[in-house]
Amino acid sequence: MDKAITEDIGALYQHYPRVAVVVTAQARGRDNAMAVAWHTFISLKPPLYGVSISPKRFTYQLIADSKEFGVNFLPFAEAELVASVGGSKGYEMDKFHRFNIARDKPVKTAVPILKAAYAAYECKLVDDKLYGDHRWLVGEIVAVHLLREALTPEETLDLDKVSPILYLGHELYLTTSKDTVRYLDREVYGKR
Ligand SMILES: Cc1cc2nc3c(=O)[nH]c(=O)nc-3n(C[C@H](O)[C@H](O)[C@H](O)COP(=O)(O)O)c2cc1C
Repeated sequence: MDKAITEDIGALYQHYPRVAVVVTAQARGRDNAMAVAWHTFISLKPPLYGVSISPKRFTYQLIADSKEFGVNFLPFAEAELVASVGGSKGYEMDKFHRFNIARDKPVKTAVPILKAAYAAYECKLVDDKLYGDHRWLVGEIVAVHLLREALTPEETLDLDKVSPILYLGHELYLTTSKDTVRYLDREVYGKR
């Protein structure tokens, strides 16, 4: 099949779906939450997590002030919450009050942790660089909140218990199907 080649690079959705998370922050007596699709684990030792956030976001101002942020992983039943905090501005409202968001207490930072999250990382900011129109924020994970029953004994997500929120772009959300899981041992497949 022929592939089209284009130098007209606009919004690209080929790298989706992505797990959609809620990034939280607090400073100056304000708490806030936003949806983030551009994020990744970067290093195991030390444990580093990266999030790509536009400097226009109120959340960015809070992170720049407090040097802390939270990364919250929610089950698919909470997809509407992701759309709510991703479609509203902390400059204009208190999202925790407006969307009635329940929280757990943080242990190593002051960032809000979402009660509905099956996992959440508390991060201390270690780097903050502008790349184009977004800032790449790197945080060291200093505490992890985990719903133990959401994990298998091997520590992977137990898809019988929790379905992650995937974002396809253009306001489309989906989740995983356990029927598609395949075990492909790299040691075996690397030697074929
Ligand atoms: C599913 C989804 C993913 C998003 N991903 C990002 C992202 O990775 N980085 C970003 O800066 N904004 C992202 N946004 C946009 C912000 O969540 C949105 O601008 C939000 O209103 C910012 O809130 P704040 O101004 O209160 O911080 C995303 C929005 C949605 C709905």
